[in-house]
Amino acid sequence: MLTTPNTPPPVTRFLTGITTSGTPHLGNYVGSIRPSVRASLNAGVESFYFLADYHSLIKIDEPARIQRSTLEIAASWLAAGLDPQRVTFYRQSDVPEIPELTWFLTCVTGKGILNRAHAYKASVDKNTAAGVDADCDVTAGLFMYPVLMGADILMFNAHKVPVGRDQIQHIEMARDMANSFNHRYGEHFVPPQAEIEESVATLPGLDGRKMSKSYDNTIPLFSSREQLKKLIAGIVTDSRAPGEPKESEGSALFQIYQAFASKQETAGLRKAFAEGIGWGEAKQILFERIDREIAPMRERYQHLIDHPQEVEALLLAGATKARAIATPFMAQLRSAVGLRPLTTGAQVHREKSSKVAAASFKQYREKDGKFYFKLVDADGAVLLQSLAFDSPKVAGQTIAALQTQGTKALPEALALLQPVAAEQLDAVQAALAALTAQ
Ligand code: TRP
Repeated sequence: MLTTPNTPPPVTRFLTGITTSGTPHLGNYVGSIRPSVRASLNAGVESFYFLADYHSLIKIDEPARIQRSTLEIAASWLAAGLDPQRVTFYRQSDVPEIPELTWFLTCVTGKGILNRAHAYKASVDKNTAAGVDADCDVTAGLFMYPVLMGADILMFNAHKVPVGRDQIQHIEMARDMANSFNHRYGEHFVPPQAEIEESVATLPGLDGRKMSKSYDNTIPLFSSREQLKKLIAGIVTDSRAPGEPKESEGSALFQIYQAFASKQETAGLRKAFAEGIGWGEAKQILFERIDREIAPMRERYQHLIDHPQEVEALLLAGATKARAIATPFMAQLRSAVGLRPLTTGAQVHREKSSKVAAASFKQYREKDGKFYFKLVDADGAVLLQSLAFDSPKVAGQTIAALQTQGTKALPEALALLQPVAAEQLDAVQAALAALTAQ
């Protein structure tokens, strides 16, 4: 019943979310939307893609903007080719198990780890530099951001999380949370890994800094042709005239081009730079290249924006799919931490089951010169204790029989063991069953 690392699902689970705090831009597209759609088409992957609207509350207090952004990001993902039949596509706030899991993880996360989160630390450093209280204007939501993100990931036991470089620390924190929870309550979570798209680790914006809502330097993914052209004309360049050679290295224009173009096309523009192409002409080439990729998606995007009820229905269907996993998993986790009916008889048994899953045999020789073995659980508690053997070989054979045949070998072995207490028998049987299952 447990989803444990001992029995990994045969497929790789990908999961990623986008915060619904604004209009999707080219940086979101090349860094997240496009790679996630591509990954979802591979065989042997199961994908979970969602709109991180709980996260948006940390930054935005304009309800209409959050609603609009949710629609725009969902429509962008769908227009870019995401197939909701193939993937689990949902809105975070439609899965109430996620905030519940956030609390469980909060209780196993060191506060010191959260103190070191980049986003929180940046706010503290800024306040300190300004000579105001370190936590001035910092909400507990900002502080807890990594835990909510950990819950997003661990809820579905994702293996790979495609994110930008700036998110690596969050994935490492999610790994920590998985490990601390597993350590306390048994193996429930798979520690996830970040998956970085190297070629587009960060897309520069109009001013050359990382394209980001917070720098106000973005190019919206779905601008009209005219708008797109105008925005691209505004990308900062230097003052070199046509005819003067230009370096592609460090040029925002070139980097954006590279994120859309083939290797060959990229090599072509690099050559043109060296040969002194004028900035106006280079911008025209960039505009045409981006437009070639985006134009076919514009119609579908506009249709979805004009028919929000279609997007709403898809998201609700996605939430049903997501909850088919989240609801039973959360029930398992609630029981694991001890939030369970007072009438369950399985309390003791359950805790043992995680410990006995890692039980092992120890063979040793005592001062009396005889050979012994015991079966101990993960905490070193003795589950079975053998009587004395004259030869290590017979002891070894008995261990082998128990290891390979499990509980079936138990009746015969009992003669060679110290009496097993009745209340111990459950744990012994579970441990042997787990050993033979490996
Ligand atoms: N923090 C991510 C960002 O700002 C968005 C996000 C929220 C996310 N939860 C996630 C990404 C879980 C990956 C997995 O880009």
